[in-house]
Amino acid sequence: MSDFEIVARSDFSDVTFSLEVRHPLMARAAKPGQFVIVMEHEHGERIPLTLADFDRDKGTITLVIQAVGKTTREMQQNCRVGTRLHALVGPMGIPSHIGAAKKVICVGGGLGVAPIYPQARAYKESGAYVIGVLGFRNKGLIFWEDKFRACCDELILCTDDGSAGIKGLVTEGIKQSISAHADIDEVVAIGPPIMMKGCAEATRPFGIKTMVSLNPVMVDGTGMCGGCRVKIGEVVKFACVDGPDFDGHLVDFDDLMARLGRFRPTEKAALEAWQE
Ligand code: FES
Repeated sequence: MSDFEIVARSDFSDVTFSLEVRHPLMARAAKPGQFVIVMEHEHGERIPLTLADFDRDKGTITLVIQAVGKTTREMQQNCRVGTRLHALVGPMGIPSHIGAAKKVICVGGGLGVAPIYPQARAYKESGAYVIGVLGFRNKGLIFWEDKFRACCDELILCTDDGSAGIKGLVTEGIKQSISAHADIDEVVAIGPPIMMKGCAEATRPFGIKTMVSLNPVMVDGTGMCGGCRVKIGEVVKFACVDGPDFDGHLVDFDDLMARLGRFRPTEKAALEAWQE
């Protein structure tokens, strides 16, 4: 078996799948909150993906991918068990700070459910009481419920259509947890920017520390290109080297969403050219 070899794949839905990739050194070094940069083939785009899991004994890391653009659709098509990724760099970024919090809410929305898992597990291992709040569009898109049940003291599922758990957004789950527990020390949220913004606003009135993991466009991942710059309060930071975790109450989410939106026409054109 060689490094970067895909040893397992699970398809959670038509568009979402996980890849377990052999890389013993990376598995040993990886910490919750870190990310990797992947190139599927020699001429492929470099894309950042937050680590969804790592297994030091097996020497593997796990990535969860949503096939939405050209590169991720190529990966969905080409990444089969036994094939290899062309390049895999990491672990990058500052690991999440798993402090002395006694009671935490770990919130994952959509694809953000995957990278919140290592954090939930790490908090559980540190002795914290962990409340998981996971949001999906519908029941059919739910994945890793068993993994979360194994490391969460409470698990609240939220679906847009009410087909499982609470009907509504993850912010509903946060509000329910806060009203049931007056002693939440910290909330950690990963998902689309609009969701993380909602989580930060839900906790702001209560003054509960809220960390979010930002996902701006990245190029080099080493702090050189400036592509991943984000506004944290009045300060400009680079998500790849200063993050990806930041204080959600300070993040300028509108700026992040505007910057992400700027690349949409190029992404759309690349996908259309690939599909022709
Ligand atoms: Fe280039 Fe962060 S990705 S500076």
